[in-house]
Amino acid sequence: MDQRPIGVFDSGLGGLTAVRQMRQIMPSEHIIYFGDTARVPYGNRSRETILKYARQDMGFLRQFDPKLVVIACGTVSSNCLEELQAENEIPIIGVVEPTVRRAVSVTGNRRVGLIATRASVNSGAYQRLFEAMAPEIQVFSRACPLFVPLVEEGRFQSGDVVIETVAEEYLQELRGQRIDTLVLGCTHYPLLTEIISGVMGGSVFLVDAGREAACAAQSLLLERDALAGPGLGDVRFFTSERAADFQRLAGIFLQEPCRAEAEPVDIGRY
Ligand code: DGL
Repeated sequence: MDQRPIGVFDSGLGGLTAVRQMRQIMPSEHIIYFGDTARVPYGNRSRETILKYARQDMGFLRQFDPKLVVIACGTVSSNCLEELQAENEIPIIGVVEPTVRRAVSVTGNRRVGLIATRASVNSGAYQRLFEAMAPEIQVFSRACPLFVPLVEEGRFQSGDVVIETVAEEYLQELRGQRIDTLVLGCTHYPLLTEIISGVMGGSVFLVDAGREAACAAQSLLLERDALAGPGLGDVRFFTSERAADFQRLAGIFLQEPCRAEAEPVDIGRY
């Protein structure tokens, strides 16, 4: 048993979709969440900038002596996981490997789609891992940069003509590729599950990166006999900008009301 916290970070608050999954399967864990709200989005930035920011995010979390760090951000996971793992003695889990593993085990026709930010798709990290794990699988990728701002504006409900139009435009080509599995490689996309299924068809299996990362975290802690417990763990939220609408946005991603406040962090110091 290990009562130390799990650190989780993301470019913003979208990573709370992964926290939600972690709370469901590991309710005893204490979680320290950092969202880099002052510098979100990362998804259109260069690899150098993403790495610089991710090192600072890790530096902040390290102070809490976490037993494990989960990178909830698809963009950081696909661009800098190896560097962060090499530079830190703490175990670090990203979202890429768990999601690819899941997609490989689920796909029947060996045709898989990937949607994520531009920086995630351009990194080639998902494609490389599919090639290494199951070279016979054909991977079809599409960056969907408008999904993040639309979700943050609350435009993710079925019937919303704006998100439905954007989703149709982004996904129509993938639909034509006859994929049977689609990796949602970004923190925000689980909120679009209904919209995406509406375009792709209900038979396409959607892989939720946050859920797979949460399961990978649980397996790793179990393996090391390092799960917390008994009792209910808590979550502390930190952000790099005091967001006036923190509770509203956090509530969207946690899919339940958030009454906690976020504690401010001067991330430039790390
Ligand atoms: N958290 C990012 C990701 O999962 C999405 C938001 C951003 O672009 O920073 O890739």
